[in-house]
Amino acid sequence: MAEIAKQHWSAKRYARTAHFVPALGAPVLELLAPRPGERILDLGCGDGVLTEKIVAAGATVVAVDAGTDMVAAARARDLDARVMDGQKLTFEAEFDAVFSNAALHWMRDQEAVLAGVHRALKPAGRFVAEMGGHNNTAAILVALTAVLGRRGLDARRINPWYFPSADAYRRKLEEARFAVEEIAIVPRPTILPTCIEAWLDTFAEDFFGALPPPERRSARAEVAELLRPILMDETGTWIADYVRLRFHATRTD
Ligand SMILES: C[S@@+](CC[C@H](N)C(=O)[O-])C[C@H]1O[C@@H](n2cnc3c(N)ncnc32)[C@H](O)[C@@H]1O
Repeated sequence: MAEIAKQHWSAKRYARTAHFVPALGAPVLELLAPRPGERILDLGCGDGVLTEKIVAAGATVVAVDAGTDMVAAARARDLDARVMDGQKLTFEAEFDAVFSNAALHWMRDQEAVLAGVHRALKPAGRFVAEMGGHNNTAAILVALTAVLGRRGLDARRINPWYFPSADAYRRKLEEARFAVEEIAIVPRPTILPTCIEAWLDTFAEDFFGALPPPERRSARAEVAELLRPILMDETGTWIADYVRLRFHATRTD
């Protein structure tokens, strides 16, 4: 059973530096098409911004996340949010749908996640999600690899993320007894509301946490310098090289 990524999720920082994540979740929410009276699980709900939208559609939603601060923020929105590792879901045939945005790629043990989602769904229930896909944040990963490599660390061993291609994830879903209705890679260059350093603090702690504390700041500055000519446009805006994988699958038995 895989561990949970080391990233510390602060709800306050997430709202400041990563509000674009739920804001750009509209297409996957549309794919979910929640209906009044449905019972839906939001897997890796974060601070509950998208969960609230599913509730607003009339569904009853249980939201789970491994980050205690995120769950507290979701509860503050009056949501039924629970601390739970997505690799150890405990539900049995109770949901019409499982939804997830920007969370699955943080979970290393995909077989455990998919088995838990399958178990949580009612027969023929749907699994609709978006996650990082093949080539997601590729420039950022290369820069992290180079800077950690200068310090004798292999970023591939530390990397907490799993960014599969559509074919690779289709296979995983089918092996886990899902029928894939649709699955696609969606390139999505993403304007960051802050600088790349703030993005790295919000999402790349697993990498920098592997360094001795006095080296972390200078390593982060080196990553930013490598990325500036690639990801910053001529107006000074940082545009991250996001690529999403979006899919709709249904439970088969
Ligand atoms: C980028 S946030 C996305 C949050 C939310 N779905 C959204 O769209 O704003 C990723 C979330 O995945 C959660 N997460 C990471 N690993 C997890 C795990 N093993 N089990 C459950 N949640 C996890 C984090 O705590 C974080 O809240």
